[in-house]
Amino acid sequence: MRCVAPNLHSVRPCCQLPRSGRGAVRVVNVLCTAMASDTAAAAVDTTLNPRVASLKPSKTMALTDLATRLKEEGQDIIGLAAGEPDFDTPAPIIEAGVEALRLGYTRYTPNTGTSALRKAICAKLSSENGVKYDPDQVVVSNGAKQCIWQALLAVCSPDDEVIIPAPFWVSYPEMARLAGASPVIVSSSPEEGFKLTPEALQAALTPRSRLLILCTPSNPTGAVYTREELEALAQVVAGHPRLLVLSDEIYEYIVYSPAKHYSFATLPGMYDRTLTVNGFSKAYAMTGWRLGYLAAPRHFAKAAAVIQSQSTSGASSIAQHAAVTALGMGPQGGPLVQEMIRAFEERRDYVTQRLQQMPGVRLAAPQGAFYVMPEVSAFVGPGVEAKGWGPVPDVDALCRYLVEVGNVALVPGDAFGAPTCIRISYAASLDTLAKALDRVAAALAPDNFAGI
Ligand SMILES: Cc1ncc(COP(=O)(O)O)c(C=O)c1O
Repeated sequence: MRCVAPNLHSVRPCCQLPRSGRGAVRVVNVLCTAMASDTAAAAVDTTLNPRVASLKPSKTMALTDLATRLKEEGQDIIGLAAGEPDFDTPAPIIEAGVEALRLGYTRYTPNTGTSALRKAICAKLSSENGVKYDPDQVVVSNGAKQCIWQALLAVCSPDDEVIIPAPFWVSYPEMARLAGASPVIVSSSPEEGFKLTPEALQAALTPRSRLLILCTPSNPTGAVYTREELEALAQVVAGHPRLLVLSDEIYEYIVYSPAKHYSFATLPGMYDRTLTVNGFSKAYAMTGWRLGYLAAPRHFAKAAAVIQSQSTSGASSIAQHAAVTALGMGPQGGPLVQEMIRAFEERRDYVTQRLQQMPGVRLAAPQGAFYVMPEVSAFVGPGVEAKGWGPVPDVDALCRYLVEVGNVALVPGDAFGAPTCIRISYAASLDTLAKALDRVAAALAPDNFAGI
């Protein structure tokens, strides 16, 4: 089935807009508009697009901002809320960025990315992931976030359902809603390793199911699906011809042995159904460069490209030039990236070991990314109180308690569809993590609570 969202059938790339005649954009008399706005100045209609009005702001960003504000006020806060590596971008990539400026790569690039970068992405996807794309199947955007948004907008029609396994990355449900679709959240527990099972997927499917979003390695849980687990999900997907899969592989390189990353598009029958998203933010510590990419069957890549051509156009020319160097640093990012991953692994080991020692904290050991999602239902609920602080009905309150009393900023799991969990990002030095976990352990000492 070749179907994109119906509102996209009428979107044309900007180069094809008619200037006059049938289908031309209506030109409004500017003078009349200006006069009308004078008289209406007193009563501004503040109505927002209802889809926007119902959007929730990102709690990850809110908590990061809170930690920054408290720090600026002089408080000794440790922020473990942000989803970004604490490392600097590797030197060769920085040099390539500087070189891009000196060589004059300062102009617009083609809408979907430079051909040098798209060819390099195709070569990487072929040699590392075992999946073949041509450059015209790749759309380079300002971060993987934009790729996901454009993919959702491209394939979802109003009232389509988007299946999102929880715990999920905060933006998936909000983006689905913004695209006019309905998110369908499918929960999982630490005992299931926080992974979607084929049975749970099957039970969530309806004729309106359009897209399944998979994120492996996962933000926020660090779960990594095995090939067998993905194959079992692919079998269910295969039984539903309308269903597509958005495979968010942005943490691909950050996996800890024996876990391994597999691209969903390589599974039998899944290439034509899969929109693969990846990017440079996490593996190459390039969050600020804003660069990600979508690789998909031509039909869907083209739809995402049209959206981009009418919204942001091509991504930064400088970041794209530097990204070619990043992809040339070697398989799995090369030695400089592998060094960062070894550091993440050491931190993962440390953080999980510390959390496992805390009474009342349950854990599914993460196998990838740089997050851990402890289950803390023992410390929240009706009647639970942190002595001298106040009631702790939910994880939102627990995180406020932890930041105010423990001086550590973490993100409440309800933001990720996991209302009894909290997310800890361990993208921080071992010293910082040790200090933060000492504080968390002290704050969560059972003696500090009543009613648990
Ligand atoms: C799972 C996941 N997907 C996508 C993104 C977006 O990454 P970016 O837009 O920085 O490339 C993030 C960033 O936090 C993420 O955690």
